[in-house]
Formats: sequence, C-alpha cells, structure tokens
Amino acid sequence: MISYQSPQAGPIAAKIIGRDRKVMLGADTRTPEIPLVVERAEGMWVEDPDGKRYLDFGAGYAVVATGHCHPQVVKAIEEQSKRLLHIGGSDFYYLPEVELAEKLVRLTPGDFPKRVYFANSGAESLEAAFKLSRYYTRRPKVISFLGAFHGRTYVGMSLSGSKKVQRAGFSPLIPEVIHIPYPYCYRCSFHLKYPSCKGSRQFEGIPLLPCVEYLTDTVFERLIDPEEVSAIFVETIQGEGGYIVPPAEFHPLLRAISQRYGIILVLDEIQCGMGRTGKMFAIEHWGVEPDVVCIAKALASGLPLGAVVAKAELMDSEVDPRAWKRGAHGSTFGGNPVSCAAANQTIELLDGGLVENAAQVGGYLKGKLVEIMGHHRIIGDVRGKGLMLAFELVRDKESKERFPNQVTSDGKGIVQVFVGSAFKKGLILFGCGFNSIRLSPPLVVGQKEADLALGMIGEVVTEIESQL
Ligand SMILES: Cc1ncc(COP(=O)(O)O)c(C=O)c1O
Repeated sequence: MISYQSPQAGPIAAKIIGRDRKVMLGADTRTPEIPLVVERAEGMWVEDPDGKRYLDFGAGYAVVATGHCHPQVVKAIEEQSKRLLHIGGSDFYYLPEVELAEKLVRLTPGDFPKRVYFANSGAESLEAAFKLSRYYTRRPKVISFLGAFHGRTYVGMSLSGSKKVQRAGFSPLIPEVIHIPYPYCYRCSFHLKYPSCKGSRQFEGIPLLPCVEYLTDTVFERLIDPEEVSAIFVETIQGEGGYIVPPAEFHPLLRAISQRYGIILVLDEIQCGMGRTGKMFAIEHWGVEPDVVCIAKALASGLPLGAVVAKAELMDSEVDPRAWKRGAHGSTFGGNPVSCAAANQTIELLDGGLVENAAQVGGYLKGKLVEIMGHHRIIGDVRGKGLMLAFELVRDKESKERFPNQVTSDGKGIVQVFVGSAFKKGLILFGCGFNSIRLSPPLVVGQKEADLALGMIGEVVTEIESQL
C-alpha cells in the first residue's frame, strides 16, 4: 500500500466547498483529489481564494486553449456583449456567427462546399451529427469505438465506450450502436504489435489493420449489412479514453470503408481539435477529409459553443433533397453572439502562433516525458501529439500489469494518488483512460512552465516509486 495524504483545501476554499456540498450534485462527481476553488485565473495560472496559485495543465478539460482570460478574448467578449447578447441564431442573422462559420468552413479539412450548425456543447454537436446522419441516409445503424467518449446526453452516452460507470443505470440506450476496438496499440485488443500486425491484405490500396479488418470481415459479414450503417463516429485521437493516437493507416481506412458503403464519416474533434495537437484539426496529421466534423471545448476559449461542420449536401436541402429540411433541427442558444465573438478571436490567436506553439512546446514536453519514462519503472507508455499528451502508469513495465484499483489503505487508485500529489505541489493534472495521466495545458504554455510541470511530475513519480 502507498502511504498518501489527500490534499486539503485552504480555510476559505474549504468553506465554499462545504456550501457546495449542500446544494450541488454529489461531491463524488468532482475530480477526486483536487479540492480546487478558483477565485481568478490568468494565462497558465489559477488562484484559489486563500491565495495559492496553481499551474494549470488541464485547461478546464482542454478548453482554455488561449490561456485563462486572454485579454484579447476578454475584449472581444466585452465589446460584443455591449452590442448584442442574444437574438436566436436559428432564425436570425448576425455578423459574428457568419464570420465564424466562414472561418470554420475554410479551416476544416476538405476543399468542398460546407455548412455549419452551431450548438452549445460537445455532446450537443454529436447529437446534431447523429440526427443529421440518420436523417440524410435513413439508415438505422451506427459504428462507434471502445474507449470512445462523446458526452453525457443519450446520443453521447450511447456512442461512448470508455467507462461502464458512464452508462450503467441509464439503459435502454439508443439502439443499433455497434462498438468496435480502437487501435490502442499499447494494449492491442488482438494482442498484436504495430506495425507487424499489418498483413498483406489491403483495402483500397491501404494496408488493413486487424482492428479495422474486424469491422470489414466480422461485423460487416456476421452482424450487420454496411448498407444499413448511417455513420461511423470516431474521435481522431481518443481523449477521455486515454489520449490514444491511432496509427497512420487507421483514418484513411475508415475514410475508404465509409466511402465504399455510403457511410458518413463523423470526426469528433471536440477535445483534439482547435490547435491542440499542433495542427488546427488533428485529422490533418492523417490527411483525411471527413464528411462531418464536431467541434466544441476550445472553440470559444471557455464560453459555451459547439459546431458541426458538414458537407453542404448533408445540411442544405437546396443542394441535396435528402438534407435536413427547415425545422428539422435547431437550438435557442446555439451560436450565441458573445460565444461567436470569443471564437472569432480565439481562431485569430490560434492562427497567429498558438497552433505552432502547441507543436513546438508539445514536442519538447513529449521528449522530456520519454526521458522521465526511461528513468522510472512505473511509466509504461508516453503518447500523444502536440499538447495532447499522456503517460500510462503501470505496476510492471515488462508485463504492462496495471496497478490494482486500490493502492492506498483508504481505497484510492493510482491516478488519484498521482493527481492529488501533483496538486499538493501546485500542478493541476487530470487522469484519463485506465491509469493514465493527461497533460492538456493551455496552448500558451512556454518552455519555462513546461519545465516547472515536468519537475513536479518527476518528483511525484519518484515519491510513488520509492514506496513500491
Ligand atoms: C471527445 C469528446 N467528445 C465529446 C465531449 C462532450 O463534450 P461536452 O462536455 O461539451 O458535452 C467530450 C468532453 O469531454 C469529449 O472529450
């Protein structure tokens, strides 16, 4: 057992947490081991009401890409909020929304006509994309992935396959969603190794991965006719499921399969999009042009906004009569003018250097994490792209044996111990997947803050390891 003491909130923070417990939903829905009350935040730093500052390597779940309260984003919000707070983007017109849609049409992969639908969150974007693909194809079935996380609504939950607690108790979920293995190559579902897992078979000239072959040869032969599938929903890089980067062939294969059978390829770029991986959209690393992209989180630097960018024929019935008709979908708040103004400014900042910074500082951080892994036996894998990085904690590097669910005498898991220990040192981190720690700092992070975080991570690894 590891000896470990949970972090304690300061006196003012503790009072606020006490009040929160009486009125907010269960305390155990909060991130375990981080009793953080935030009074203010700026750039990479957040401050609690007791005056303690924390280095933020979570960015509010990969949301504040431009850093906390970026002055230009705040200015854009202030200016817009003096002009128009709300009118209803489903029915009326305002420039910030049009400008943002134009930007997203330009930035998302694919040089073809597109249309944009604005929602308020990631799950709402998925909800819209799900309705869109069923409506357009009139096909009932959907392919999704084990390890996926797509949000908390019934569509999000039904598509997700990350942790059973997110689904348990909510059945029946939306039917006809078939989950298949995602290429989590460190723990391959087929106990194979990439790239030697590739056989001689190809699909449209692309070497078939066994996990994709499972779709073409097993699911499409034994379970369902691909002609009955409306969409493949896939995170370009799995987020909550463990920051898992699929190999080079994966997305091109999904593109080729979906094209062959008239299936809509929907990419969830909610966590990995908007510059986080060192490209504006993560799928640019694979050179694939999807039919639909779902965006949210970092889009408006912290204001609620989601977007679905789709090929024009899917969303515009003047282009294709199968597309959504007037009234088929909409939202009261979606595309709020203030959120759109924040998003327009966010994109300027991303384009103006932050995406490049994500690639550069992300590369530096990853190299250093690999070095740390070389010196420690409890880090089994380092993975990710740009500033979407994770390392996986293992009890045994050779066998990849996981830590037991409880590593302290009071029942805490290894991720809780890691995240809590980092928090005590002043670093905010989140877990992901099974026993992995994710690094998703704001994209304004510099090498100085990267070194600070790496120092604290190294100390925590050493402390935990010394007790094993
Ligand atoms: C990949 C992915 N999709 C969808 C969602 C759901 O987004 P939201 O919480 O804004 O509904 C999340 C949230 O973490 C996510 O990471």
